[in-house]
Amino acid sequence: MEFFLDTADVDEIREIAAWGILDGVTTNPSLIKNSGRDFKEVVREIAGICSGPISAEVTAMDTEGMIAQGLALKASLPDNVIIKIPCTAEGLAATKVLNERGIDTNVTLVFSAAQALMAAKAGATYVSPFIGRIDDTGHDGMNLIAEIMEVWASYEISTKVLAASIRHPTHVLQCIQLGVHTATMPAKIFRQLMKHPLTDKGLEGFMKDWEAVEAAGNA
Ligand code: G3P
Repeated sequence: MEFFLDTADVDEIREIAAWGILDGVTTNPSLIKNSGRDFKEVVREIAGICSGPISAEVTAMDTEGMIAQGLALKASLPDNVIIKIPCTAEGLAATKVLNERGIDTNVTLVFSAAQALMAAKAGATYVSPFIGRIDDTGHDGMNLIAEIMEVWASYEISTKVLAASIRHPTHVLQCIQLGVHTATMPAKIFRQLMKHPLTDKGLEGFMKDWEAVEAAGNA
């Protein structure tokens, strides 16, 4: 399973990349806004920190505009940058063309299994269902992930399911149990996933006992 960071904050990306298990990064226009930095400059820097796929999102609403932006981003940014496209009819057509030109895509803002399947049919490299934003409406976002994984089990689909809008570690655990290919999450959730009070307590005990071993001259 791939673990991606969902941020455009390069300090956070450096921190988690240092753990050795960061597989990619996703950005979106809101995350770029939060970074306060130039879009291409920050994506270029991110692509230099993490060698995995780095999603950079198009902002055109029409197919031709999305294709033009996707091609321009690919031409001006490092090879590991992939093109993030909204899950609209226009986005579907752009995904198809970019796929035919050998460009990897991440179809985003997916809220139904049918949308996910159509994006896969268009040749998307990744499809990104948003869990947390469904939870926000009073429904269970994990049901969508389960539905998509059920569809994926029935057909031969090479598109990877990239769970997005992850709000807490339980979302990630449930994605792992459902066999999701990729999860993108904020740095805070990476930290929460690695933290366990019994690990800290156990380590404290081992270190204390080791001091006694050293004090006895037995180290
Ligand atoms: O990258 C897209 C997605 O993960 C956004 O999450 O928290 O804004 O719903 P959120």
